[in-house]
Amino acid sequence: MEMNKFLARTLSFGLAVLMLSFFFTVPAGAALSNEDKVAIGTEITTIYRAARGVVAKSQKLINDASKGDKGLSADVVIAKTKENYKKATGNDFAMADAGSLKGQTQTALLDAIKDVMNNAQALINEKGKGLKGFLPAIFAKQMGDGFNKNIGGKAYIKLTAPKSYVRNRANRPDKWEADVIENKFKSASYEKNKVFTADAKHKGKGAFRLILPEYYKKACLNCHGEPKGEKDITGGKKEGGKLGELGGAISFVIYN
Ligand code: HEC
Repeated sequence: MEMNKFLARTLSFGLAVLMLSFFFTVPAGAALSNEDKVAIGTEITTIYRAARGVVAKSQKLINDASKGDKGLSADVVIAKTKENYKKATGNDFAMADAGSLKGQTQTALLDAIKDVMNNAQALINEKGKGLKGFLPAIFAKQMGDGFNKNIGGKAYIKLTAPKSYVRNRANRPDKWEADVIENKFKSASYEKNKVFTADAKHKGKGAFRLILPEYYKKACLNCHGEPKGEKDITGGKKEGGKLGELGGAISFVIYN
């Protein structure tokens, strides 16, 4: 073969490989249908709530000053999270294909839960200390931060609340979240518990966004209820919230 023909073939082969590799490295969210994205958002917010539920249900145990080891290791919390997941969905928790965005987000969230619980062991196992500040919302914030770090810019999760109710500034709703909370979730005609989804920017980037409303239950009102401004057991000020009122929202993002 002539040298320049050989070179031309090698080059065109190389170009084809390069083009193919571009094709296969499109961003994670771009190849997914809207239905796929809703399914991932539903899966991740369900695991997130299931894990937070474990901390909520263990609150008395966590705050028990007479006990040292609380038996709430990362493995125990993961196992109980999967139990809550089954209660919520009727299905056993199952890992998706590790190469899929669903599998990657599942792993990122489970790893975040493990990290938060491993880091919390010394705090929650301290004997002689009652209130430790290890609350569901604080656990949820740490779990979200861990997820956001682990998933490397492909997706994002955050616990937020109506602007007027936010205690931790890091949980403040962004413009899109505040708009959905005030104009959709708080509207009398909005169906309870219904997620809202849209293609909208997040932190300046094009994205699929999903947000899930949450309402105050009786147990929440010990801290978030009336009278407004009175101190709760954590030392924070009560919001004056009412039973069944919109108290928070879980916001989830998949970047385009
Ligand atoms: C023991 C008191 C206590 C109880 C009970 C409680 N919370 Fe909270 N909640 C807090 C505190 C304190 C924060 C602020 C956490 C932080 O600083 O990150 C908070 C934060 C939140 C946030 C995040 C937004 C923000 O204000 O920063 C939401 C949403 C929330 N709570 C909803 C609920 C709901 C819903 C329930 C009931 C299922 C509940 N809380 C029960 C004390 C409580």
